[in-house]
Amino acid sequence: MQPGVSGKYRPFPTVPLKDRTWPDKTITRAPAWLSTDLRDGNQALFEPLDPAGKLKLFRMLTDIGFKEIEVAFPSASQTDFDFVRELIEKGHIPADVTICALSQCREHLIRRTMESLVGARRAIVHIYAAVSPVYMEKIFAKTPAEVVEMAVSSTKLIRELAAAQPDTEWVLEFSPEHFFASELPFAREICDAVAEAWGATPERKLIVNLPGTVEMTTPNVFADRIEWMCRNLKHRESMVISVHTHNDRGTAVAAAELALMAGAERVEGCLFGNGERTGNADLMTLALNLYTQGVASGLNFSELDKIARANEELTGLPVHPRHPYAGDLVFTAFSGSHQDAIKKGMAGRGGADAWEVPYLPVDPEDLGRGYDSIVRVNSQSGKGGVAYLMETAHGLVMPRRLQVEFSGAVQRHADAKGGEITPHALWELFSAEYLKLRKPVLYAGHHLIERAKGQGISLTVSVDKKTIGLSGKGNGPIDAAVHALGMPISLHSYEERAVSQGADSKAVAFVEVSMEGVKGMTFGVGIHENIVTASIKAVVSAVNRLLTMAPKELRTSLLEGLVED
Ligand code: KIV
Ligand code: ZN
Repeated sequence: MQPGVSGKYRPFPTVPLKDRTWPDKTITRAPAWLSTDLRDGNQALFEPLDPAGKLKLFRMLTDIGFKEIEVAFPSASQTDFDFVRELIEKGHIPADVTICALSQCREHLIRRTMESLVGARRAIVHIYAAVSPVYMEKIFAKTPAEVVEMAVSSTKLIRELAAAQPDTEWVLEFSPEHFFASELPFAREICDAVAEAWGATPERKLIVNLPGTVEMTTPNVFADRIEWMCRNLKHRESMVISVHTHNDRGTAVAAAELALMAGAERVEGCLFGNGERTGNADLMTLALNLYTQGVASGLNFSELDKIARANEELTGLPVHPRHPYAGDLVFTAFSGSHQDAIKKGMAGRGGADAWEVPYLPVDPEDLGRGYDSIVRVNSQSGKGGVAYLMETAHGLVMPRRLQVEFSGAVQRHADAKGGEITPHALWELFSAEYLKLRKPVLYAGHHLIERAKGQGISLTVSVDKKTIGLSGKGNGPIDAAVHALGMPISLHSYEERAVSQGADSKAVAFVEVSMEGVKGMTFGVGIHENIVTASIKAVVSAVNRLLTMAPKELRTSLLEGLVED
C-alpha cells in the first residue's frame, strides 16, 4: 500500500543518550573479525555448500587472515556436524585460528554442539536467544524472565560440559537475538546474567555479540544502543563487545563502523555481504574501508579478484559490477570529466607516497587490479579517456589538439554504433582516420636529395592507380614534400615522438595543416621506422583528410594539378 502512511510502520525509538561520545571518535585500530560465511552465509544459499566447498571456503578464509571462523550450526544438520569433525580430526585448523559453532539455547542441541567440538584446541560455543518483546512472545511464547532463565541454564550446561573437556580452551559467545529491537535494560540484564553464569572475568571474557538481526533504523541509533550497552553493562570489563549487523536497510557496514566508534571491539559478517536476506555486513568492504583510512585491517585482500571469483563459484552468487572495491566497474570511468581528472591524477603521481588520484579512492594495484580498465570509452567519454587509452594500450601520446579532433571521431562512432569501444576498436578507428588514408593520394615512396641550400625531394604518389613522380624543394623534408604536392597547404604544427607497439619502437609524426578553400585545420599522422618517412606520410595523411573535406571542384582541380615533373 504505497504511497501513504497507514500506521503499519512506526518510527523506531531513539536512545535516551544525551551525552553520546561516539560521534567524536575515529576508528584507529581494526576490530577482531569473525567470518560467518560458513554459517550465516551458508544457511542463506540456494544450495548450501557441500563438504568440499566448505573446506575450500574455510581455507580461503584462513588465507585472508581470519582468526575466528564460525564454521557450522552442527546441531541443525548432519553435514555441518560432520564438517566440524573433519576440520578437527584431519587437522585442517591452523594453530592461530579458532572455530565457532552456533546452537540454540536447548539442552539436546547444546550437547550435540559440544560433541561436534570434541578435540578442538580452542573453540567458541555460540548460543543465542531472542530478546525483543515481539520475538520473545512470538518465537518462544515466554516471559522475559523465562528467556533469561533459558540463557542462564544453557550457559551453566556449557560450563559443565566444558569442564569435562579440559583439553579444549572454551570460549562462550552469547547473542541476544534481535538486539536492535530489544528494550535496552532487558538486553543488559540478560547479558550480565549470562556473564555471571559463565563466571566471566577480564581474563576469561564472554563474547557478547549484539546483533542487528534485522536492520531497523539509521546506523546512528544502532551506535547509540552500543554505547548505551558499553556504559551500562555491569560486567563490561569481562566482555568482548561484538556486533553482527544485517543489511536490510542497506547500511550494515555503516552500522558496524559506527558501532566500533561506540565501543564495539569485534565484528561478525561475511565476504561480499553474503548472509540471510539482504546479507550480513560485508567484511571485505569494512576491512578495505579501514585500509583506505590508513588502518591495518589484519585481513589480506591484495588478490581481491581471485577471492571474488572463488567466492562466486562457491556460493553461486555474483559480485555486483558496482560492488565496493570488488566490482568489475568500480575502477572504471566512462564519463569524460572523470576520465580527464583521472588521467591528470595518474600522470602527476610521481614518487609521492599519498594516493591522490581523483575519483579513485584506492590504488587498484593494492587490490591486485591493473590500471588497464580505469578508463573505458563510450559515447559519454571525452578526449581525456580516449587519450589515456591510446597512451596506455597503444603507447601513442597524442598532441592535445589531436586528442580533441580524434575524440570527435570517437564520439560519432560511439553514437552511431552504441556501446563501449574497446582499445582494439579505438586503434582501428585511429588507423582508419589517419594512418590508412590512401585515397585520393597514395604515398608510394620518396627519396631525398641533399642540396647546398635546403632539401630536395623526389616523391612518388599514386592517384586513381596512376603513378605520378613529383619533386619539390624546401627548408626540410616536410616543406619539400608540401611543395612537391603543389597544393595551397599551410603547416601549423609539427611534432614527432616514439611510439612503442609491442617490442617494436617506431617514429610517429603529427602535422597540423590547413588548405586554402577548406574550412579549419586538421591533423595528419604517419608512423614508420624512419622519422622522415613518418613525416612525409603524415603530410600525405593530412592532405587526404583535407581533400575529403574540400568542395568537389577544388578537390578535382587540385588532383588534376598533380603533374609529373
Ligand atoms: O542475525 C542474527 O541475529 C544471528 C544470530 C544467530 C547471531 O545470526
Ligand atoms: Zn545473522
